[in-house]
Amino acid sequence: MKVLLLGGGGREHALAWKLKLSPKCEDLFISPGNAGTSQHGQNIELNGFDEIIRFCQEKTIDVLVVGPEAPLVDGLIDEVQKINSLANMILIGPGSTGAQLEGSKDFAKEFMKRNGIPTAGSKTFTSENIGEARDYLETLSSPYVLKADGLAAGKGVLIEPDMNVALEMLEEVIIKGKFGNAGNKVVIEEFLDGIEVSYFALTDGKDYVLLPEAKDYKRIGEGDTGLNTGGMGAISPVYFADGEFHEKVVDRIVKPTIEGLMKEGIPYSGFIFFGLISVGEDPFVIEYNCRLGDPEAEVVLPRLKNDLLELFELAGKNELDKAQIRMDEQAASTIMLVSGGYPEKYEKGKRIRKLEELKGVLPFHAGTANDEQGNVITSGGRVIAITALGESVNEALSKSREAAEIVSFDKKYFRKDIGFDLLSFQTN
Ligand code: AMP
Ligand code: GLY
Repeated sequence: MKVLLLGGGGREHALAWKLKLSPKCEDLFISPGNAGTSQHGQNIELNGFDEIIRFCQEKTIDVLVVGPEAPLVDGLIDEVQKINSLANMILIGPGSTGAQLEGSKDFAKEFMKRNGIPTAGSKTFTSENIGEARDYLETLSSPYVLKADGLAAGKGVLIEPDMNVALEMLEEVIIKGKFGNAGNKVVIEEFLDGIEVSYFALTDGKDYVLLPEAKDYKRIGEGDTGLNTGGMGAISPVYFADGEFHEKVVDRIVKPTIEGLMKEGIPYSGFIFFGLISVGEDPFVIEYNCRLGDPEAEVVLPRLKNDLLELFELAGKNELDKAQIRMDEQAASTIMLVSGGYPEKYEKGKRIRKLEELKGVLPFHAGTANDEQGNVITSGGRVIAITALGESVNEALSKSREAAEIVSFDKKYFRKDIGFDLLSFQTN
């Protein structure tokens, strides 16, 4: 089969690596890709939906896999579906309505309320009813959680202990446009105190399979301090996400989500990322995403033993009920090497050395490129995610850390404490 994969981060390198392991994968194209994806397929530059569609037609692409959320929310799949000659192409990624689960926090909240899916109590405000925000905040207790409705590159969530400051922030977002149009609506919600875990389903809109769960570490600093980033590392499995908790997630969240989509006539083919929080051993949804996570994909895919392309094929035929997921018993960890200064200002173009010295780990490139001489250089804030497998999360982490020390580039930074909050609990 011929596959076109869109995106250029660590998630896409992990997807490219996994897809190329499939004997069914004849040709793999990645747009735009990075220096890592070019080891598994051909990087190409496709700008805009028209170029993507034309490329799919010219190359008779069989499977289109959309890595990031933006093209999904912007309606790429809807455009592709208008093209008769692409009617048989398997689409991994939902249309713009399904993608609203991620693209609009208000849509996601309303969907969960309609379908009885546990989530924090909330109310949505616009410039029209902003006056009622104080009354609502008075019904909640501090800290207050404010979320810009639209996509805000992971920066749209504010957690504030002081009600007056929260109200000022609300005004900054709605009236002064702090997050642009993404903040025309703001969801204010109850703060949930617990431990986070992410679940991933691949669905054809009727049936689904669950991939290994993961936990990511979003803050730049050790001990989960400092600014939010795209993700500094991840581990899988997450010790508490089994047994009864797992059953609750399936019964209260995963099944009602897929059934809700069906009931509401929202077609969905692709991944659903459930960002969950466990409060007193009960799972609540913090967010949905319409794609795999990054860096979660870098631990989830290495633990998946199935042929991913075969799963995509089943999803394309609406036969996911026939799939049996097999997971590696080993644990996986990934540690993200980032450019000094990230997530604020950082420099690019630094030569990356010693990648060839790494043994027994999977270095998934995120922000890398090749210079004119073919050297691998940095081209983003998150540079390389170093994944390792081990008998325990701890063992995997030691391998990731050891390799993270070896790779060198100017101003390299990484967190040495990924997994710190879970290690004392782990049983494998
Ligand atoms: P989101 O973009 O909705 O995933 O939010 C980003 C992060 O903010 C989450 O991963 C949580 O750590 C935190 N967060 C979001 N909503 C809540 C909430 N209701 N209670 C506690 N923490 C939250
Ligand atoms: N690592 C979080 C995300 O991909 O949204």
